[in-house]
Amino acid sequence: MQKLIGIKKINIAVLISGNGTNLKNLIKHSRKKHAKFRITLVISNNLSAKGLDHAKKFKIKKKIINYQNNQNAEKDLLNELYKSKIHLVCLAGFMKILSSNFIKKFKGKIINIHPSLLPKYKGLNTHQRVLNNNEKYSGCTVHYVNSKLDAGKIILQKKVKVFKNDTYKGLSKRILKQEHSLYPKALNKVISNL
Ligand code: GAR
Repeated sequence: MQKLIGIKKINIAVLISGNGTNLKNLIKHSRKKHAKFRITLVISNNLSAKGLDHAKKFKIKKKIINYQNNQNAEKDLLNELYKSKIHLVCLAGFMKILSSNFIKKFKGKIINIHPSLLPKYKGLNTHQRVLNNNEKYSGCTVHYVNSKLDAGKIILQKKVKVFKNDTYKGLSKRILKQEHSLYPKALNKVISNL
């Protein structure tokens, strides 16, 4: 992709698999007066993702990608991104791993939010592993996506204290709240560097 000079608002696609609270929050930020981005496409690999309701409510184009075959799915995905002239892709609870071939096509233009203080606790089930290890802190990270899982350059991070006798529910809720403040900040940082 070429450098985005002179573009007033960046077209964003948000990829989800589940509840979409980060999506909802990004939509809210995109509707602010001086927002530098607009969300023009929501993609889900999961037909029953609750987050799709937010796309519907805000009249944002949505697409379901059938992931029975990864290669075909990524072909469809790429097609949708090109068709909608997407500049930047935000993964927000998207539970599929993108191939390095796909990432190359949107090099430096895919970001992800992960519910841990990366590089610690890459992958799934982060909160439970944090609790099992009696960590004092956890948090969330927004990072660029590269071909290694949860290993791309960190854009922003927020630390969250883990309490004694903390629960999965309590910790995940507190971290999610911080995600909602972190993701728009990180996105704006990325946009100002485009
Ligand atoms: C968020 O906690 C996000 O960090 C996590 O899934 C949740 C999605 O919530 N993502 C990952 O674990 C990616 N590996 P949401 O659907 O309510 O935005």
